[in-house]
Amino acid sequence: VYFNICIMKFAIIAPETQTKKWKVEFEKQAPGEELLIGYETDRPDDIECVLVWGHPKGSLKKFKNLKLIFSMGAGVDHILNDDTIPKDIPVSRIVDPQMAFSMTNYILMAVLNYQRCWYDFQDAQKRNHWAQFEFDEKNLKVGILGIGHLGMDAANALYRLGFEVFGYSNSPKETIFPSFYGKQLEDFLKKINVLVCTVPLTPKTRCLLSAKLFNELAFPTYLINVSRGAVQVEDDIIRAIKEGKLTGAFLDVFEKEPLPNNSPLWQNPKIKITPHVASLTYAEESIRQALENFRRVTNGSAPLNEVSRENMY
Ligand code: GLV
Repeated sequence: VYFNICIMKFAIIAPETQTKKWKVEFEKQAPGEELLIGYETDRPDDIECVLVWGHPKGSLKKFKNLKLIFSMGAGVDHILNDDTIPKDIPVSRIVDPQMAFSMTNYILMAVLNYQRCWYDFQDAQKRNHWAQFEFDEKNLKVGILGIGHLGMDAANALYRLGFEVFGYSNSPKETIFPSFYGKQLEDFLKKINVLVCTVPLTPKTRCLLSAKLFNELAFPTYLINVSRGAVQVEDDIIRAIKEGKLTGAFLDVFEKEPLPNNSPLWQNPKIKITPHVASLTYAEESIRQALENFRRVTNGSAPLNEVSRENMY
């Protein structure tokens, strides 16, 4: 008798809602392949690939034979900030055009609502008030802080719509609009009156959106943050709005998530809030990339979209 023992090589470690969707897709794309949900197993040595989103810190260290950690999110700070993970295990992340499409649309929504004074018209409507000629289209100079995969997509879309666009990134990038890098952050900040933040969370970007940066702005500026809450200092944002350095903010991410019920951000009329939904992970493409990357590492190649431990993105 021949027993075909299927070894459980894959695990998904993520919150429940995501886990459910990813499990369905995994079973479709890898039929017959056993899948561990979570990290409780008495055979941790069998696990070679983990698909993670917001795993509990330290929960991966029991897997001694990991060949790949696949981030189901665009941001990988939650993995790289876990210092219990051995540095030699490759980390790769999802890079998905559909994710860029959603992120770009979200940024366009925030920019256009602001540019066309949508909130003023909304207030006027509440008062049955015909606000013709009361609000002008705003003349915007949009700065994209962080022109990586997602930031670049949004910057190009804004540029093609006819907006004046400026980019800033850590390293030089080829762009169809003026862009800055490295030590030129101040020059970039002097040009703009809308600041869209699409940076990864790294030691360099933690608390970057603070009073220090707002003080460098040459014009009253509208802030849009879709990156990570730890990049912003919420007290400083509120103060900068009060002082007129910021004209308002459109925020998808927060220092603490879910945003606590007693946060003053909720009721600030100049602040618009969405609950970390700017761009979501699409199960089909993510699972496809995770499986492809695992095939690559088991064949001795590097995974696609490997994260640099040094840059932290
Ligand atoms: C979400 O925030 C992500 O990084 O994908």
